[in-house]
Amino acid sequence: MTENIKEILNKDFFSKEDLITLLSCEDGESRKIFELAAATKKKYVGKKVYFRGLIEYSNYCSKNCLYCGIRAGNSRYVRYQMTDEEVLEAAIYAYQNRFASIVIQSGERNDKKFISEIERLLIEIHQLSDGKLHITLSLGEQSEDTYRRWIAAGAQRYLLRIEVSDPELYTKLHPNDRHHNYYDRLEALKTLRKIGYQVGTGVMIGLPFQTIDNLADDLIFFRDFDVDMVGMGPYIEHEDTPLFQYKDTLLPLNERFRLSLKMVAILRIMMKDINIAATTAMQTIDPQGREKAMMVGANVIMPNLTPVKYRQNYLLYENKPCLDEEAEECKSCLEVRIAMAGDEIGYGEWGDSRHFENRNEGKGE
Ligand code: 5AD
Ligand code: SF4
Ligand code: FES
Repeated sequence: MTENIKEILNKDFFSKEDLITLLSCEDGESRKIFELAAATKKKYVGKKVYFRGLIEYSNYCSKNCLYCGIRAGNSRYVRYQMTDEEVLEAAIYAYQNRFASIVIQSGERNDKKFISEIERLLIEIHQLSDGKLHITLSLGEQSEDTYRRWIAAGAQRYLLRIEVSDPELYTKLHPNDRHHNYYDRLEALKTLRKIGYQVGTGVMIGLPFQTIDNLADDLIFFRDFDVDMVGMGPYIEHEDTPLFQYKDTLLPLNERFRLSLKMVAILRIMMKDINIAATTAMQTIDPQGREKAMMVGANVIMPNLTPVKYRQNYLLYENKPCLDEEAEECKSCLEVRIAMAGDEIGYGEWGDSRHFENRNEGKGE
């Protein structure tokens, strides 16, 4: 007989079976999960939500992930790279508006020119903010040497989603070549940890071929890897991608959303002091998606600082919000949304992962 949700939620450690039960429960039952997640967030990370100003630096990508709209094989988008001035302007905006942190994200490139451009930008951003603006990178798999150069130039955190934690499922969602290798990605995450980054990872939820069993494994992956930050959200099909052919096999959008919300809530209960993002993909399905994620555990949000002229070319998935809103509009919009979720914005605070801090304090003893 399966245990009831309440009994499972009383445990200190969830088994895979527990996670499957929690992920499969009915809407009425998930309320209990959401309540405990909200209380856990309040107790361990507080009511503050931290801004990470998002700079979508470039949509050039050398990879061909089968789900992603800006994959190299898609010729529909005009490829762009922001100028240094545009990046620095966005960084200054973040600094002056007391965002305290920015994220630089782009498609994956490993050429020397790109690596040095990022290094140079990191140094300049560090200088212009007197080291007060913390920088997260989300630039894919790179060599250990590159990761070292970028941390030396001023980055503190790195986001590299594992996308799915099951190696077999990974091969169904990526071309089977040496550029898309699950074990290389895992190795890259380990290297980032070793070098001293605050490491974030994440998955997509509701992918073709993905099961509840896979999602339970994803949560266990986060716990076993002992990640500092997680960003995850629903998979949203994109017409110009190979995976689009499976669109009729997917969960309906509202169910993908509910499942994503549950993943956030369960993860908050499991990993009490990590940073969890309320992702844009959540809002793509539900107009109040990010508020709902904050109410069940998310404590980080990424206002978009990319110049509006580039936004329609950075569509990893369809119906992405904020295509026409300038930085100022996204900021005001999020201020209202965060207040609606009953939280406050940690202006001027780095909002580093407490989990990272706690682990490193432990090391010194
Ligand atoms: N739906 C949702 N998320 C996607 N990503 C890429 N394509 C999609 C999609 N179709 C996510 C991946 C990647 C992050 C930057 O965007 O998880 O790591
Ligand atoms: Fe490139 Fe990242 Fe999209 Fe894969 S998910 S195609 S690496 S931008
Ligand atoms: Fe961009 Fe709401 S966050 S318009």
